[in-house]
Amino acid sequence: MGHDALAQVLRQLPEVTDKNLLVGAKHADDAGVYKLTDDIAVVNTLDFFPPIIDDPYTFGQISAANALSDVYAMGGIPRLAMNIVAFPANLDLSILQEIINGSTDKLKEAGVILVGGHSIEDKEIKYGLSVTGLVHPQKVITNAGARPGDKLVLTKPLGVGVITTALKRGKIKPEDVQGAIESMKALNDKASQIMQEIGVNACTDITGFGFLGHAMEMAEASGVSMIVKVKDMPFFPKAIELIKKAKNHPKTIKSNKEYLGGRVNVSDSVTPEQINLLYDPQTSGGLLIAVPLEKSQIVFERLSHAGVQASVVGEVIEKRGVVIAIE
Ligand code: CO
Ligand code: CO
Ligand code: CO
Repeated sequence: MGHDALAQVLRQLPEVTDKNLLVGAKHADDAGVYKLTDDIAVVNTLDFFPPIIDDPYTFGQISAANALSDVYAMGGIPRLAMNIVAFPANLDLSILQEIINGSTDKLKEAGVILVGGHSIEDKEIKYGLSVTGLVHPQKVITNAGARPGDKLVLTKPLGVGVITTALKRGKIKPEDVQGAIESMKALNDKASQIMQEIGVNACTDITGFGFLGHAMEMAEASGVSMIVKVKDMPFFPKAIELIKKAKNHPKTIKSNKEYLGGRVNVSDSVTPEQINLLYDPQTSGGLLIAVPLEKSQIVFERLSHAGVQASVVGEVIEKRGVVIAIE
């Protein structure tokens, strides 16, 4: 779901009192969840944005991985998808064809069927998908279940925002972007399946609000605070280099910072570069999972064994004045 002004507007809506609505617009979670029967609930989500890289096929793959991610974050299994397309009249249709080829191949990898979509004419390309998934009503994983004592596990490195921004501005060689592209193309399917099998307390995926924005949503929805350990945080090495120059910063770093304001406390040992990377907007980022302490080792081992680059990046504590402390 949108992580922007829309979230604020949705929070103003009257509460919907449908007993089958498990996760709705007011929850600031990744997707809506509606119970159909005692065994099946549907998960609905939507994501779209302008190209973050030039190659249309790769952009399609990343867009699909990103849109599917909200279903995975809720512990669901994606099943159906619909295209959302904005496309300029003066551009060659083969570009759109390549975007959709990339997207469809990624959907196939996820076992998802493309069932249609809608396109409009626009000045700038925008592409994304609405995805429908399934989940057991009692196995929905929201961002509201984190408990004091939980370990925080992150499943992809941070820094794709600054890397793709530098690429757009011609400040980085295409071969130095490859790691970030592979990461954005990677599905969160294995991480989702593992957390579903082992049982965890909360999950969300890291996208436009950056690590801290999405961690903050989880902390506030759960009524807890968090300690984040910067030395354990996985950053792309190239991102650490690029973030030093303000001209490489995505604009959203600043707005993400302003949005979180006084709810974050940073200890003196943390560098400005590290902080900026924690605010860096991600596309198709990893899952942030709150795992009960006694299960954290097995979750970490299972993720690593499945080829997921998992890191334990902090812990959940009792709620206090500062919501997130960065050490
Ligand atoms: Co979303
Ligand atoms: Co999300
Ligand atoms: Co969620």
